[in-house]
Amino acid sequence: MSVIEWKKKYEIGHSRIDFEHQIFVDLIAKIYDAAKEGKDKEYLQRLLYELNKYVEFHFVSEENIMYSINYPEYETHKHHHEKLLEIYNQKSMEIELGEQTIDDFLTFLLDWFVSHTIIEDKKIATYLKGKII
Ligand SMILES: [Fe+2]
Repeated sequence: MSVIEWKKKYEIGHSRIDFEHQIFVDLIAKIYDAAKEGKDKEYLQRLLYELNKYVEFHFVSEENIMYSINYPEYETHKHHHEKLLEIYNQKSMEIELGEQTIDDFLTFLLDWFVSHTIIEDKKIATYLKGKII
């Protein structure tokens, strides 16, 4: 079993977002394991590309959810996503150039995921619950 796995504490209480987050963590774990097992560079690059596309998809998905519920912090949240994508692309480039290790990159992604999810994404679910009651 990978050391990186989905944890109950990551749940924000929105089934669609939680589901997408699980896949995100799963992809990170897959890359981590592949790197540990010494899989070839080509395969690792393919997985990183998959993760890149998935992150882009997930952000659009989350932004559309926020948009559809008139979420008041939509712009701020979208800005967080844009900033992350910027850093993400920068770090991917550094990996290509050999200036950054996959381990460091995954640690960065996981740290970011945990803090962003627990603070920012959680607010979406809390806002929705407030609306329903
Ligand atoms: Fe988010």
